[in-house]
Amino acid sequence: MKTVIGLMSGTSVDAIDCVIMQFSGQKNLRWQLIGCLNYPWQPVVRTAILDACRPDYPVQQLTLLNFRLGQCFAQAVLELCTATGYPVDEVDAIACHGQTVWHQPTAMMCAEELARGTVQIGEPAVIASMTGRVVLSDFRAADMAVGGQGAPLVPWWDWRVMSSTRESRIVQNIGGIANATYLPQRGNVNNVIAFDTGPGNMVIDWLMASMTGGATNFDDGGTFASTGRVNNLLLSELLEHPFFSMPPPRSTGRESFGAEFARRVLHTAKLRRMCDKDIVATVTELTAVSIADAYRKWLPNSAMEGTVVLGGGGVRNAYLVDRLQLQLAGTSIKTHSHFGIPDDFREAMAFALLGYERLLHRCSNVMCATGASRPVCLGKSTLPPG
Ligand SMILES: Nc1ncnc2c1ncn2[C@@H]1O[C@H](COP(=O)(O)OP(=O)(O)O)[C@@H](O)[C@H]1O
Ligand SMILES: [Mg+2]
Repeated sequence: MKTVIGLMSGTSVDAIDCVIMQFSGQKNLRWQLIGCLNYPWQPVVRTAILDACRPDYPVQQLTLLNFRLGQCFAQAVLELCTATGYPVDEVDAIACHGQTVWHQPTAMMCAEELARGTVQIGEPAVIASMTGRVVLSDFRAADMAVGGQGAPLVPWWDWRVMSSTRESRIVQNIGGIANATYLPQRGNVNNVIAFDTGPGNMVIDWLMASMTGGATNFDDGGTFASTGRVNNLLLSELLEHPFFSMPPPRSTGRESFGAEFARRVLHTAKLRRMCDKDIVATVTELTAVSIADAYRKWLPNSAMEGTVVLGGGGVRNAYLVDRLQLQLAGTSIKTHSHFGIPDDFREAMAFALLGYERLLHRCSNVMCATGASRPVCLGKSTLPPG
């Protein structure tokens, strides 16, 4: 049996999601969630991270921020252990996704050759030093080195834990970006289909922050959007974004649906004299429609007869969930909590599992999801001092 802490912070940059998990078994995986903690980023750190996602961010600052975030991840671990009463020195490993500042799965010219790459910061040596534990990190690199996109990695967890012999399932995460994992009934790992569906909460969050002068970063429960009306003209224009017609494997992020996209939406809507609540209702609809459209375009028809299992912070946007159910009339929608998995912690639990696989030297990339040419063991290991 191994005890692994999983740490995840996604594109929303809202918080470090932390879990303590126990795993045993190999083919027949057994797992137990010991405890979880949401460790919000301090506003100054969040601002620094969002700045660091710009291509012209100074490399000296990035170097410092890497070590600074290492401290934050370590503090999150120590707070999780205090909160749960689990002694940190009984933890076998900490699996830290880190904070993505740049992900470049398509090749670009670099020193006269094509190159690809990915950078997640939060220095593992700092985490190892502050906690005294082995730290596993940099999970995306090995998959990219064998031709994969380095993403998505969470489908490994979905396949190991959420697959069913009774029904097919679509696991739908709604974080800053939204992504789906299709698990065919009784399918093997080579039949899994996984891809980003498009924006999740990212555009909603940016607009809410802009409209309230930064007083709030999200539409709590979707109550603001629920008082608005969807503008169909704007919606259909937004759905023309080239990402929505790209076939999988595909992934997206702030480059496509970040501040620049949201600013353009706001500008267009204001020129048409749309009111704020109609604008937020329309981008919320964009999330719901783009999810349902992606299923119709890229999944077998029978996928809609299975269950859709929602996860991520977007589950708390009740209005968004209602709109998605309207788009998927007749399809059963449940949340992860129905399966004993807290909705906000699925990704942190997934990285804990990737850490466990790494401890056992097992490969854990879903090749048909990332496009990798070979199975690889994900994650690099950093030992604590001494
Ligand atoms: N009560 C809520 N109502 C509406 N949206 C929420 C609520 N709580 C969280 N969210 C949304 O969920 C996001 C965080 O989701 P998360 O799954 O952590 O995304 P990421 O993986 O991108 O960090 C927040 O930025 C916010 O948009
Ligand atoms: Mg988050």
